[in-house]
Amino acid sequence: MRSLSKVILGLSLLVLLLTASIEARRRRKKVHKISLNRDTDHAKLLKNLQTQTTALKTKLNVASTANATASSSSSSSSSSSSSSNGIEALINAYNTEYSGNITIGSQSFKILLDTASANLWVPSSQCTDSVCLKHNRYNSSKSTTYVANGTSFQIQYATEGSNQVILSGFLSTDTLGIGGLKVKSQTFSEITSLPTSVFNKSNFDGILGLGFPNIAIDGVTPPIQNLIAQKLIDEPIFALILNRNGSASSASNGGQLILGGTDPTLYSGCLTYVPLSQVGYWQFTVTSIVLGSNGKSLCSQCEAILDVGTSLIVAPSAALATINQQLGITAANLLNGIYTIDCNKTSTLPDLILTIARKDFVLPASSYILQYGSTCVSGFTSLHEGGQDVSSVDGVDYSNLWILGDVFLGSFYVEFDVGYKRVALAPKVSN
Ligand SMILES: *[C@@H]1O[C@H](CO)[C@@H](O)[C@H](O)[C@H]1NC(C)=O
Ligand SMILES: *[C@@H]1O[C@H](CO)[C@@H](O)[C@H](O)[C@H]1NC(C)=O
Ligand SMILES: *[C@@H]1O[C@H](CO)[C@@H](O)[C@H](O)[C@H]1NC(C)=O
Ligand SMILES: *[C@@H]1O[C@H](CO)[C@@H](O)[C@H](O)[C@H]1NC(C)=O
Ligand SMILES: *[C@@H]1O[C@H](CO)[C@@H](O)[C@H](O)[C@H]1NC(C)=O
Ligand SMILES: *[C@@H]1O[C@H](CO)[C@@H](O)[C@H](O)[C@H]1NC(C)=O
Ligand SMILES: *[C@@H]1O[C@H](CO)[C@@H](O)[C@H](O)[C@H]1NC(C)=O
Repeated sequence: MRSLSKVILGLSLLVLLLTASIEARRRRKKVHKISLNRDTDHAKLLKNLQTQTTALKTKLNVASTANATASSSSSSSSSSSSSSNGIEALINAYNTEYSGNITIGSQSFKILLDTASANLWVPSSQCTDSVCLKHNRYNSSKSTTYVANGTSFQIQYATEGSNQVILSGFLSTDTLGIGGLKVKSQTFSEITSLPTSVFNKSNFDGILGLGFPNIAIDGVTPPIQNLIAQKLIDEPIFALILNRNGSASSASNGGQLILGGTDPTLYSGCLTYVPLSQVGYWQFTVTSIVLGSNGKSLCSQCEAILDVGTSLIVAPSAALATINQQLGITAANLLNGIYTIDCNKTSTLPDLILTIARKDFVLPASSYILQYGSTCVSGFTSLHEGGQDVSSVDGVDYSNLWILGDVFLGSFYVEFDVGYKRVALAPKVSN
């Protein structure tokens, strides 16, 4: 139960999202990168933003319309120096969803990256519902490396309001291919019951959790821990660089997931190291958050998690109210949990300043406002609009929790240090 309740929170964040140095060393060492591709069909995204009724549906329709035609030019990404280790191109859908290709056995899947959960799951060939038929399904009979497990598995997606989306299935074990690496004996979940309301339209098959083992359902060892245990990577770290639309010169490079190393050419200045305040999510204490250097305090010694599975920045509702007031956003701007804002105002809006480990991390309005054609969307939301925040999970008070999703991660180079249980942040070198 413990891990289940935690994962419920993690997945609710995912679903809400409108729903993952040493240069000389890196060349020699086992550093693996996955490149992220970009998709830019904003008119479709906007249409979906305007027609959906819940944040959950909004998120998944974002996914469904993300016409993620993977670019074949992805090999031009900046990760060429580790090409001997294999590079995969992944997809950035609308700056709100970062996913990539993996293999299980020899079967291919497109998985969403999620740092707020710790299980890997894909649909099972045993599921013959139409919703499953829309996705790649794992067929164990076709795999020579399959090992049966059979333990039952269940995971819940909390949605806004009372909707509960439950996925269920069972555990299996096979070889996982990711970033050119082959993880042996990776236990994952074959999903036999996939809710249509949600997955009819998702453009990814499954989810890859990059959180810690203590939040993994059924005590399954997550892929990162297996990569480390099997010595497939040199250092127990991974890094995430999420490229954003708008500043890119190379449209094919949506970012990278670097497994087992770090790449100082991708950030400027020094990394700021922050110890995790709690292990499970990638959670740490933020000293303060303000909007504009003279703005009201939005956070003082608050807790935050880094979540690539969440698109926006999720703030406690009181902080969100203050943010909206400062941005001139009213209830009239609310569209299904997403706030619109006049694009013309973007240039006049203050910076968001997060003080973390005595260092200021600055997000200009151009980063926290998402532009889709002539419509702009605020990068801030809260977990339960007009209702209660998630206040307590597992006895831990989350009423003050900030979820720093893709809107935040997109501006920084972030190293996730599994070994030292810390994160390291630096401004990203613009792509
Ligand atoms: C996806 O994009 C490609 C290239 O931009 C286009 O040819 C194709 O028709 C699009 N598919 C859908 C379903 O919109
Ligand atoms: C991902 O896999 C799909 C299906 O096999 C393939 O068409 C696509 O090119 C791949 N995309 C990337 C970015 O690797
Ligand atoms: C799974 O693979 C086996 C062996 O190739 C095949 O006979 C079976 O029809 C497949 N099952 C599904 C549901 O595709
Ligand atoms: C799922 O998509 C199919 C078309 O691809 C549609 O016929 C069906 O009604 C959809 N189901 C739901 C619950 O949206
Ligand atoms: C199934 O996997 C779980 C998690 O890795 C493990 O604890 C359990 O022993 C496995 N069961 C079998 C029958 O292999
Ligand atoms: C925004 O600015 C453009 C050109 O500067 C103008 O045409 C448009 O009407 C403005 N939009 C609003 C909502 O003020
Ligand atoms: C992406 O770039 C295009 C063209 O540069 C622009 O029209 C669009 O508004 C941008 N969207 C986002 C989300 O930045």
